[in-house]
Amino acid sequence: MTITFVGHGYVGLVTACAFANFGNDVWVIGHTPEKIAKLKQGDPLIYEPGLKEILIKNLQAQRLHFTLDFKQALEKAEIVFITVGTPPKNDGEADLSTVFQVAKQIGQNLKPGLTVVSCKSTVPVGTNLKVKAIIEKYQPKNAKVEVASCPEFLREGTGVSDTLNPDRIVIGSNSQPAINLLLELHQPLPGKRIITDLASAELIKYTSNAMLATKISFANLISFYCEKTGADVETVLDAVGLDHRIGRIFLYPGVGYGGSCLPKDVKALIQIGKKLTIDTLFLQAVESINLQAQNNQLRKILDHIPGKKIAIWGLSFKPNTDDIRFAPSVYLIDVLLKKGFTINVYDPEAQKNIQKKFGEKLNYFADPYQAIVEADGLCVLTEWNEFKQVDLKKVFQLLKHPYVFDGRNIYNPLKMHQLGFRYFGVGRKI
Ligand code: UDX
Repeated sequence: MTITFVGHGYVGLVTACAFANFGNDVWVIGHTPEKIAKLKQGDPLIYEPGLKEILIKNLQAQRLHFTLDFKQALEKAEIVFITVGTPPKNDGEADLSTVFQVAKQIGQNLKPGLTVVSCKSTVPVGTNLKVKAIIEKYQPKNAKVEVASCPEFLREGTGVSDTLNPDRIVIGSNSQPAINLLLELHQPLPGKRIITDLASAELIKYTSNAMLATKISFANLISFYCEKTGADVETVLDAVGLDHRIGRIFLYPGVGYGGSCLPKDVKALIQIGKKLTIDTLFLQAVESINLQAQNNQLRKILDHIPGKKIAIWGLSFKPNTDDIRFAPSVYLIDVLLKKGFTINVYDPEAQKNIQKKFGEKLNYFADPYQAIVEADGLCVLTEWNEFKQVDLKKVFQLLKHPYVFDGRNIYNPLKMHQLGFRYFGVGRKI
């Protein structure tokens, strides 16, 4: 099949590479010449394990093409996926301006005959129909468009394997030919097929992300109870998670969820609810607990650290990515700088992005141990594997004051105590 992606972010690029790898002819449209030039050279622009290899392989096989030109990329496309950003506006509502702008360009360049267009970006209910209306307004007379919602559930850091091993493939459309084409495209992939209407498919993606955020906020809420009562959150949630109706997955407390999806989609669902006059108190609580989790970490630092020089390990919103969008690190660094802290930072991949944001205000290190020399405390914000088995005796020696604020519960409180650290985990008994 010939398929086209508009947008080459995490979803667009990873999915495009995966479908090219199955033998399809895949076109990817961007709008920044320098980025398209880099992509053509095999530079994925983002850090995502396994992506560069699959990108280069399919470029060499000439199954993957990058372009700025809609006409060229739509000439033979049977399916067009819109995978552009839908960032939150100030009030949290999803900003669909790029989606609609792209819809116009698709309409203006549509080939004769049927093309299926599908938003893979997370969009509110009704967006695919709006996209259809815009395309129909601009399309040539001999062209026909059908729309479908086909949401993507990949996570950053495991994007390639998530795309190749989905739990489910959701296809929502009012058009049987569109459903048939999408079923054919997804045929090599495992996972249960959910064929449904447009509205249900569009809502499934928001529901999924809101549920994940809810589990995390619930875990964080229980960690607050543990801190006030002396209970141990990891033991509590291990036991609770063993109930097969609940499960332990996504029930890990920490410094709050970040990233480009969970914070944005909870906010958007709140705004959608308000418009529909639904009481959104529940989702507002999920959001509020997330902020409390970040503030809780801050409070521990501000109340206890015996100086104003802190080292931070981990800046990305989660391990195995260089993405810092809505990362707890950004919020914490902002506040600590305002409070007059000197901040040393180390992250295996996200340092460049943090440097773009904070410039000279932070001290950057290429080695985690160097970052903690003479610091009054260490704060861990991302659970990168390389932090889990560090030489803790060396950490103890290098720090000026042996204070560790472990925002991801990667160290054993008892062991830390025995080594002489003042250890602050999340919801953990010392
Ligand atoms: C998420 C969804 O998981 C994915 O299905 C969707 O397509 C996009 O959004 P992603 O944003 O890549 O994926 O990351 P995810 O693994 O969901 O983690 C999000 C945030 O939650 C991270 O900051 C992570 O540290 C945090 N988290 C996750 C917790 O704090 N506790 C947990 O138990 C799980």
